[in-house]
Amino acid sequence: MNRQFSCLFTFFVSFVSFVVYLLVLMKGKFITLEGPEGSGKSTQAQMMIRRLSGVGIEAMYTREPGGTALGEEIRNILQHNQAGEAPCERAELLLFEASRNQLVEKVIRPALEKGTWVICDRFMDSTTAYQGYGRGLPVDDVKAIHQFTINKVAPDLTLLLDLSVETGFNRIAQRFLELGESADRFEQEERAFHERVRRGYLTLAEEEPERFRIVDASQDPETVSAAIWNIISTLLEKE
Ligand code: TMP
Repeated sequence: MNRQFSCLFTFFVSFVSFVVYLLVLMKGKFITLEGPEGSGKSTQAQMMIRRLSGVGIEAMYTREPGGTALGEEIRNILQHNQAGEAPCERAELLLFEASRNQLVEKVIRPALEKGTWVICDRFMDSTTAYQGYGRGLPVDDVKAIHQFTINKVAPDLTLLLDLSVETGFNRIAQRFLELGESADRFEQEERAFHERVRRGYLTLAEEEPERFRIVDASQDPETVSAAIWNIISTLLEKE
């Protein structure tokens, strides 16, 4: 009887471990793209999704702030001063976090659980770089708020598309000319702000080398895409 029980117990434990293993294996990867203005994140996200789909991996694009109906409303408030009153520094931070939590719970977590990869154009490191290093809010407090917001949905990999502030702004100026767009609240910030943002990103990458990969975003889009694909291929080989 004891022997039978022990066999049954071993079988049960093995079965549960197998199911857990399958669930972990089936979970999609969460990849975030970060970088200063004009670093080409959106273009690279789309190119990456096409490459992933080419090897049979289903991946979806989303962005921050935004990605949900509520998040897109918040994006308008944040970028275009929709309310006619610029948010105070901490209010600004909390609006980004609100948009983020909505995106995590409504889009990112469900997609990952279904096995879909999520490619997110900006995530929590943008807040640390812009509101923490850029605006000067205490970085440790900002990071602590992220943990509450993301509720354990953390990126598996963060690609930092790095380039000089000058190159980024030249690209943006070109885009404005071509598309007739005008600068948003963040793009209007002084150069020193954007230099702090860039340095902030580089500090974050240095602090978490296992999550971050830095990519030279000053190169042409095809070269940047190939460099990113190299990193993703290594990630796939490790699976
Ligand atoms: P983008 O979609 O063109 O990158 O614009 C989003 C702007 O919002 C960009 O200037 C960076 C800024 N931003 C922050 O300041 N903090 C954040 O947490 C996020 C996600 C974006």
